[in-house]
Amino acid sequence: MNANKAVVLGGRTGLLGRSLVRALEAAGWAVVPLGRADVDIFDSQALAGVLDREECSALFNTVAYTQVDKAEDEPQEAYRLNEKLPQLLGRLARPRGIRLVHYSTDFVFDGRADTPYAPDAPTNPLSVYGKSKLAGERALLNQDVPSLLIIRTSWLFGPGKNNFVQKILELARSRDTLGVVHDQVGSPSYTPDLARNSLALMQAGGSGVHHLANAGQASWCELASEAVNAAGLQCRVTPITTDQYPTKAKRPAYSVLDISRFTGITGIKPRPWVQCLREYVFDDLHYPTELHA
Ligand SMILES: NC(=O)c1ccc[n+]([C@@H]2O[C@H](COP(=O)([O-])OP(=O)(O)OC[C@H]3O[C@@H](n4cnc5c(N)ncnc54)[C@H](OP(=O)(O)O)[C@@H]3O)[C@@H](O)[C@H]2O)c1
Repeated sequence: MNANKAVVLGGRTGLLGRSLVRALEAAGWAVVPLGRADVDIFDSQALAGVLDREECSALFNTVAYTQVDKAEDEPQEAYRLNEKLPQLLGRLARPRGIRLVHYSTDFVFDGRADTPYAPDAPTNPLSVYGKSKLAGERALLNQDVPSLLIIRTSWLFGPGKNNFVQKILELARSRDTLGVVHDQVGSPSYTPDLARNSLALMQAGGSGVHHLANAGQASWCELASEAVNAAGLQCRVTPITTDQYPTKAKRPAYSVLDISRFTGITGIKPRPWVQCLREYVFDDLHYPTELHA
């Protein structure tokens, strides 16, 4: 087995997957990113073949059915990716002694709390997406996978793939005002930080369920306002309620994650999300340089 070699499922095209590949490579790991063209993720023999050939010590799974509203209409497909796939990965990692790092979501909570959710807080997902992700966690926890690490994260933004911040900035370029939901509050997470911190947690021997996000909390409206501000755009961002922006899937009103278990194990205090947002908008999206070009 290769001590510093990792397979990253979703590493070619995924929002988090791409950042993970970069973070692992920057830390000196050999990385095998896998996308749809590389392997059929539901073909257990093909996947086993990849793991045996690569002799990796770690397997990161970022593949998921992440379209929260569409999942309400496609529950079977959501469960196939969010429950059956991790179950299969657990079965493959276990006999090979491979460390498995799997990602889950703040949407396993119902949002009725008013203080940050600890990893052992009671779950009660409101949507098919949340339920299928929780089923995936359970399918893994029910197996005796060595050093299994389940990282619940939330509200991702970062380079390499369209995301909430990028969508808001695209809209803000062509509109004078934007109404954005203000009664849903969560923990924004910058994918390069999440990737680096995931590796740190794995290397510190973290196992079981952990929460990981950037420091601080925001509503979607606050996140959008900060992004528009950082990009130097003139668009006015105004708060609206969830009722004014109905969606097929129900989302938790409050899903701030308590990340103190992560800090306790690694000694790392994640950066405030506002700092990361500015880095993303200036360095990755090239605002406001782009505006002056
Ligand atoms: N995004 C968020 O705000 C958020 C919040 C909380 C938790 N999470 C969790 O964090 C993890 C990473 O999320 P993400 O936003 O980085 O995901 P993502 O960008 O939507 O990436 C998902 C990956 O899964 C692949 N995939 C999807 N369906 C597939 C299929 N049928 N067959 C093969 N590959 C398939 C995609 O490949 P293609 O590009 O080829 O489709 C992509 O590489 C997930 O576990 C997610 O539940 C995300």
